[in-house]
Amino acid sequence: MPLNADLAIKNISQLVTCEPDLFDSSDDEVRPVGLIDDACLLISGGAISWVGGRKQFETSGHGASEVIDAGGLAVLPGFVDAHTHTVFAGSREREYEMRVKGAGYMEIAAAGGGINATVGAVRNASIDELVQSGSSRVGSMLRQGTTTVEIKSGYGLSVEAELKMLKAIKRVGEETCVDVVPTFLGAHEIPPEFRENRDGYIDLLIDEMIPAAGESGLAEFCDVFCEQGVFTADESRRILLRGKEYGMRPKLHADEFVESGGAGVAGEVGAISAGHLGHASREGLEAMKASGTVAVLMPGVGVGLGRPEFTDARTMIDMGLDVAVATDFNPGSSMVHSLLIVSSLACSFMKMTPAEVILAMTVGGAKAVGRQDRVGSIAPEKQADLVLVEVPDFRYVPYHLGGDIVRTVIKNGIVVFDRTQD
Ligand code: NIG
Ligand code: FE
Repeated sequence: MPLNADLAIKNISQLVTCEPDLFDSSDDEVRPVGLIDDACLLISGGAISWVGGRKQFETSGHGASEVIDAGGLAVLPGFVDAHTHTVFAGSREREYEMRVKGAGYMEIAAAGGGINATVGAVRNASIDELVQSGSSRVGSMLRQGTTTVEIKSGYGLSVEAELKMLKAIKRVGEETCVDVVPTFLGAHEIPPEFRENRDGYIDLLIDEMIPAAGESGLAEFCDVFCEQGVFTADESRRILLRGKEYGMRPKLHADEFVESGGAGVAGEVGAISAGHLGHASREGLEAMKASGTVAVLMPGVGVGLGRPEFTDARTMIDMGLDVAVATDFNPGSSMVHSLLIVSSLACSFMKMTPAEVILAMTVGGAKAVGRQDRVGSIAPEKQADLVLVEVPDFRYVPYHLGGDIVRTVIKNGIVVFDRTQD
């Protein structure tokens, strides 16, 4: 029966569905991304209602009240940035300069800079300032094709300032057209007033901060920075299990600089995702695989910190772990908002193939935030979040580092960015 839709997109040179099981290709090289050449799609009520080739479309009698001629552009699912710290105040370019001159990230943190420098700025900022700067950054992400973004708190580190951050994160979601996924990260660092009393801070997390975050309904996930010098594996387990009691699913920053048992804890507590993992043990990765924890890889950090070591993505992919790539956008270690730039870094430095990276920034990201039923791929009933890119082939996406390739972004079936209209 012919379908009548609100919007049709025709003349798509390559439709990268990221649904290989639905859209099988005879070509082994493109099968993983579920590619349809010379494609059309229909959108009804903000969701995708039909996907197929031009011939099928022309013989089906399908119609739409509005038609976009993609003019030979490729179409990808809107990108899902599954790990970011996009709401913050101030900036830390002086630390960047110190690192360029040879100082280490943890060394700068121990000397009073690092995360706690941003904590000071966030505590002094009004909620309106946080919302305004956070929304502006999310706008920049949208223009690079990101339509869903996870944002963590973690620069407040007191009951009051963490709730201020979570409220700001919620408002950023309301004031932009990007879907914002909120995560509570009270266990990001020990704040300065607890430097001599770390157990006191952990008690505060367990007794007050996690209950307050959970009961506020403002956070879907609870994250912890499990790392030598920050939170131990035992502390992380305790914090994450407490978060679970309050309805927040666990996530981790794990084994970034040294093996800290983080990947093992991720598996043990059934974390939805664990990020960084540069020094994760084989047993830790096996535990993550067993619990279905998504490995979130963030090569922007290697560049931001000027450390020429990148997480071993190949081992994880070859083990069969689900993998996402994310920006980790934050003012300390990864001042990059573009998943497109990160896609190039993941290919060049983590040796992921272009197809693997595109899956990791769409369907992989969606799994890492528990949204794979709605976003991350192009198939009937999925949210119509789409990126129209000016490329001759999907492999061009990571190939052109920093390329201005995004022509149009569609969110819930509505054009929210069009470069030709700017
Ligand atoms: O994910 N590793 C810990 N947290 C952030 C850095 C935050 C900061 O330095 O402000 C990260 O890399
Ligand atoms: Fe992070």
